[in-house]
Amino acid sequence: MMTIKVKVENLSKIFGKNPKGVLPKVKQGFSKDEILAETGHTVGVYNVSFEVNEGEIFVIMGLSGSGKSTLIRCLNLLNKPTEGKIFVDGENIVDYDKDKLRIFRQDKVAMVFQHFGLFTHRTVIDNVVYGLEIKGIDTKERYEIAKKTLESVGLCGWEDKYPNELSGGMQQRVGLARALANDPDILLMDEPFSALDPLIKREMQQELLEIQSRLKKTIIFITHDINEAFKLGERVAIMKDGIIEQIGTPEEILATPKNEYIKNFVRDIDRTKVLQAKNVMFMPSALVSLKDGLKVAIREMEHSGISSIFVIDTERKLQGLVTIDDAIKAVKENKKLVNIIKHDYYTTGPETYLQELIPYATESKYPIAVVDDKNKLLGIILRVTVLSNLV
Ligand SMILES: Nc1ncnc2c1ncn2[C@@H]1O[C@H](COP(=O)(O)OP(=O)(O)OP(=O)(O)O)[C@@H](O)[C@H]1O
Ligand SMILES: [Mg+2]
Repeated sequence: MMTIKVKVENLSKIFGKNPKGVLPKVKQGFSKDEILAETGHTVGVYNVSFEVNEGEIFVIMGLSGSGKSTLIRCLNLLNKPTEGKIFVDGENIVDYDKDKLRIFRQDKVAMVFQHFGLFTHRTVIDNVVYGLEIKGIDTKERYEIAKKTLESVGLCGWEDKYPNELSGGMQQRVGLARALANDPDILLMDEPFSALDPLIKREMQQELLEIQSRLKKTIIFITHDINEAFKLGERVAIMKDGIIEQIGTPEEILATPKNEYIKNFVRDIDRTKVLQAKNVMFMPSALVSLKDGLKVAIREMEHSGISSIFVIDTERKLQGLVTIDDAIKAVKENKKLVNIIKHDYYTTGPETYLQELIPYATESKYPIAVVDDKNKLLGIILRVTVLSNLV
């Protein structure tokens, strides 16, 4: 059962002197540019709705100015929404008074910023204890927590350095540790890795996935990099001009981009890094069972116009593969199906990324068999499917 952690309903944020007064105009359908020209107000976010499940990494992606920061800053009320509701654990935080909001920010959410947002005059560990200090945790305990958290992001031994003595990647680890030290339910991450070199960025992405597999936070992650979005996001929302254009899993967005704008975005995606075996496999119409015998195998292959066929047992467990050439020869030589079964095909699990199947597809003469952990056949993948997703 999935629990909804954050639910955003019809959220809008207009910047300017009279946001509420301008909202009706936006609702009439005037564009962001028209609103700006006519009223001097900027539409930051308009009529955005989505849900984030507990333990999910939800990515919001879009080009510069599309409203990503505006949106994420609404989620801890750094931005006061012009209209709409934000439910966290079922409570509408937009209605919170000062005290409730303070507690919410201390206990439930933490934010990681693009430019790290560290205190330059504080040491690494003093940056990390900051939130705990505010919370009133006693000195000894807060330094213990901070030390442990720094360890968990790979910064053991760097406690007493100053941020400017650290590389960008390490500074962002401090940013992450500071956010994690408070043990928040929800992590808000606004382009945390955008300022980093590609290699370091990849390392940090891996690290975040690893930390997440341990901690299972609810993460709302912002990026303008579609590859990063699809790598990290269980679901991704794509924004344009303050509006969410499409929400879906990476596979869904790749398979059915909603419009030209989204299509343009996903054009650059390396599909082999997004699609898994289960996304492209299919159950072949032709299969033979061990007890079927050669004639059935030949007929099935001829019928389907294929030159090899997988053999299964009564429980659908994969037994091997038979080729048409071997089968015809075997009939002449009075051999049985079991005598000509081959095993030199590749098998894989349903979660394998196509990228890892490329070598198999290039080398093998046969389709790739997708099996579960009990060797039950789940489907097959044609070599051409793997290779055609390369372009
Ligand atoms: N405080 C503000 N006052 C007025 N307008 C603002 C303010 N903050 C953001 N905006 C406007 O709202 C729109 C969305 O900006 P936002 O910063 O949310 O975009 P973004 O998607 O985060 O872009 P980036 O990738 O550059 O960070 C922009 O048109 C921006 O000019
Ligand atoms: Mg931004």
